Amino acid sequence: MANKIYKLSDPSGKTADLPLREGSLGPGTLDISTLNKDLGVFTFDPGFMATASCESRITYIDGEKGVLLYRGYPVEQLAEHSNFIEVSYLLLYGELPTKQQLEGFRNSLRRHSMVNEAVLRFFSGFHYDAHPMAMLTAVVGSLSAFYHDSTDIHNPRHREVFAHRIIAKMPTLAAAVYKHGTGQPFVYPRNDLDYCSNFLNMLFSVPAEPYKVDPVAAKALDLLFILHADHEQNASTSTVRLAGSSNTNPYAAIAAGIATLWGPAHGGANEAVLNMLRDIGDVKNIDKAITRAKDKNSGFRLMGFGHRVYKNYDPRAKIIRATCHQVLEKLGRDDPTLELAMRLEEIALKDDYFIEKKLYPNVDFYSGIIYRALGIPVHMMTVMFAIARTAGWVTHWQEMISDPHMKIGRPRQLYTGEVKRDYAEINQRK
Ligand code: CMC
Repeated sequence: MANKIYKLSDPSGKTADLPLREGSLGPGTLDISTLNKDLGVFTFDPGFMATASCESRITYIDGEKGVLLYRGYPVEQLAEHSNFIEVSYLLLYGELPTKQQLEGFRNSLRRHSMVNEAVLRFFSGFHYDAHPMAMLTAVVGSLSAFYHDSTDIHNPRHREVFAHRIIAKMPTLAAAVYKHGTGQPFVYPRNDLDYCSNFLNMLFSVPAEPYKVDPVAAKALDLLFILHADHEQNASTSTVRLAGSSNTNPYAAIAAGIATLWGPAHGGANEAVLNMLRDIGDVKNIDKAITRAKDKNSGFRLMGFGHRVYKNYDPRAKIIRATCHQVLEKLGRDDPTLELAMRLEEIALKDDYFIEKKLYPNVDFYSGIIYRALGIPVHMMTVMFAIARTAGWVTHWQEMISDPHMKIGRPRQLYTGEVKRDYAEINQRK
């Protein structure tokens, strides 16, 4: 919907009309798609500081107020009343499911939870100490060599089957990644268990003895999955969209998203937070860590702090922080890291540097503490994030591909290299 028109003129007086497109919530965006045609220039915005890359109906964030909505529903309400499978359905289909729809969705995910045996054999090519995210990126990418019955991306039913398959198979692959690293046999999915209990069973059970999933652990994992399920156009989601915009195989597009998530500025922060807290070690070392984080030359940042969009407390961090004590207590774990993290937060939030820059704890600051209480090792934590975010990635991919006006993503550049010059033979070079 275009209401107001902004006008831009160049020094010679030529003008361009930039219609303001207003969404249902949040600031409008200037439609600059004809700018190059009208004025012969491009816009320059590295890191997308002020650029909306697409129109979307999935997730809304108000970073100033600390608001996060999935399909209009506040994440706090979903965290309290819903579960990850229902949230995945909501993201994918746009509405909360009826009982029947939810059961149908669950059944479909159950049916797709196994992976082709040949995929499991790929793991033997990895060293035991390969990083879990390296293995996950590779095996998810390798799914593009399978399942050819459902990769006509222009067929809505194929897209739906793909969506169910990838959501269903991620826990199986993530657990296989873990088992390969520990040298234990792979555990097959159990369709009598719910999504999170099945995942915990595949992670922690061994053929030698019975294993019973702790429902408290499954519930805590489910909550973390809800909170990580989507976050609009973050780096990994934008990567999935950009990769997918070439009409590539969708598993390959998801693998690209996983590779992007791995970085410590994005999903890798949960691993980095625990490593940082381990290095700080004690409350008495917090001041030193804060001083280092403020020193640009140190190369050190307070991991789990700051966010491109949130200039307020990340609502997901608020929920996880409030749940942390409860989960540790119910699981009978006492983790001094939680006290250390809370003290670090308290000190940072009173510091002028963090106040002025509006740096608050983000989702990754406390999530690792819960994951560790569930027995999940630090190097597996970004894999946990990837399982949950798959629901968001596939929803964004689906939204983009089903748009009849979809175009391949092709950013432009400001070229500052050499101007045209002639090739010199090797004996004529200085
Ligand atoms: N510790 C110390 N200083 C910080 C931090 C931090 N964690 N985060 C930002 N700053 C400073 C930064 O140095 C910059 O200062 P100045 O304006 O003087 O140059 C200012 O705050 C703005 O930072 P920025 O890097 O320009 O902001 P950004 O929007 O490009 O980056 C961020 C956002 C999340 C990458 C960044 O805050 C960061 O590196 N945080 C630590 C890593 C982290 O926790 N990442 C997880 C993000 S949430 C989950 C997810 O997205 O996956």
